[in-house]
Amino acid sequence: MAQGIVAYYSKSGNTKEMADTIARAMNHAEVATESKSVEAIKPDDLLNCDAIVLGSPCYYGQMAAPVKQFIDDLVGHHGQLNGKVGAAFASSANVGGGSETTIIGIIEAFLIAGMVVQGDPQGAHYGPLAIGRPDEKVKQQCERRGQRIAELTKRLFP
Ligand SMILES: Cc1cc2nc3c(=O)[nH]c(=O)nc-3n(C[C@H](O)[C@H](O)[C@H](O)COP(=O)(O)O)c2cc1C
Repeated sequence: MAQGIVAYYSKSGNTKEMADTIARAMNHAEVATESKSVEAIKPDDLLNCDAIVLGSPCYYGQMAAPVKQFIDDLVGHHGQLNGKVGAAFASSANVGGGSETTIIGIIEAFLIAGMVVQGDPQGAHYGPLAIGRPDEKVKQQCERRGQRIAELTKRLFP
């Protein structure tokens, strides 16, 4: 079975709630997936994953420092994430507060790592984003994203 991980940093729980919802949807779509804080993940742990999903609260329009540190720590494995599926999500306090730039920042790093990132022609094009506590609509977008990530992962890693 294909393997996935949903990594997140979350101080007040909003990003974690999104991570757990995405991971649940990926498991439901038969990609074995753990939801884990970036602080509990070692770079080596990613090598066995076919899909890596990374979420961050928006801090000043960018990913939070622990998420950036998590990415920077992957440099010792540069090239080894090539071809894996990547996706991103974010949480912010305000509409227009910088969630999309946060998501794009994570996706930029994933592209540099050679990962495969799929957009969505409907709804949350770049990745799910929540304003504060995820509401029902955001949860549905997280479920849809988890399902789409799983479908792509199963196609690439049957
Ligand atoms: C240092 C810091 C910077 C922040 N910067 C922004 C920001 O630029 N735009 C915004 O909308 N929210 C900002 N926020 C609010 C968080 O993105 C928001 O509360 C988020 O939902 C927290 O996620 P969490 O519950 O997973 O920790 C900031 C919060 C902190 C602590």
